[in-house]
Amino acid sequence: MGRQNRSFERRQRRLQEIAEARAVPYSGPNRWWSTDTLAVVTGSSKGIGLEIVQQLAKQGLTIVLTSRDQARGQEVVASLQTEGLNVVFHQLDIVDPKSVALFSKWIGEQYGGIDILVNNAGVNFNTGSSNSVEYAETVIQTNYYGTKRMTEYMLPLMKPSSASARVLNVSSRLGRLNGRHNKIGDELLRNQLEDDEHLTEELIDTTVQSFMEQIREGTWVSGGWPQIFTDYSVSKLAVNAYTRFLARRLSDRPEGHKIYVNCYCPGWVKTDMTG
Ligand SMILES: NC(=O)c1ccc[n+]([C@@H]2O[C@H](COP(=O)([O-])OP(=O)(O)OC[C@H]3O[C@@H](n4cnc5c(N)ncnc54)[C@H](OP(=O)(O)O)[C@@H]3O)[C@@H](O)[C@H]2O)c1
Repeated sequence: MGRQNRSFERRQRRLQEIAEARAVPYSGPNRWWSTDTLAVVTGSSKGIGLEIVQQLAKQGLTIVLTSRDQARGQEVVASLQTEGLNVVFHQLDIVDPKSVALFSKWIGEQYGGIDILVNNAGVNFNTGSSNSVEYAETVIQTNYYGTKRMTEYMLPLMKPSSASARVLNVSSRLGRLNGRHNKIGDELLRNQLEDDEHLTEELIDTTVQSFMEQIREGTWVSGGWPQIFTDYSVSKLAVNAYTRFLARRLSDRPEGHKIYVNCYCPGWVKTDMTG
């Protein structure tokens, strides 16, 4: 079977999976949420984030749509509200500690807490086959440290519930630790990052810091980092590892206070990020 046929089949399978997921009967015992269920989606005035907001709102949840750009965020929210969706706006820049602190204060005062956090905000400056690391600082600060900052601020605000609270990190398969073509060359480090039992936040941070040091020194090319979209891949690799670390850190919480932590890769989607 040719490459084109295989990719056509993959696409058909994916469309079928999406259709099946959309057909899940979200009623009766499957429906654990209500209009009081509050979800926060970062970077959600466009692209995948906006789609997540719409899908969740259509299921009847209340959503906080966030954007760095106040005017655009408000405009998008106004249009969703005219469709009858329960969506409100708040400005949020996940790289700016002040913005995140203000946001979490507002959530606490306005709603008392949240049920779902979708860490969707992200940046990537590589296009096509380019592998520029010119913007590595921004990519790492946004995709990894921004996601972590948001999560750590929101965790104390996660509402106790029999259905459990959830953190969902939007990641990428480029950040797979064991990807066939795109992985960390240092086998020892790779094994350490894959070792869920002993994985620590320090190890993830040190890995990212060591990448950034090599970027600043101009020595990253021989550093054994992923070959494709290097800075983006390192950032998502860190998000994946942090997700697994956090899931284990929170795994002992008692019934009624549980927080599920997952990440997922949406697959390739045509957005401003991908052009
Ligand atoms: N598209 C794909 O094929 C693909 C594949 C795998 C994973 N992903 C992931 O999916 C997520 C969404 O990407 P997308 O494709 O929808 O891209 P997008 O349309 O460019 O959306 C990215 C969003 O992130 C926001 N953002 C960037 N920096 C931010 C910051 N410092 N604080 C708050 N928000 C910030 C942007 O807000 P502004 O409007 O303020 O810039 C924008 O709303 C990303 O995490 C991306 O890595 C995408």
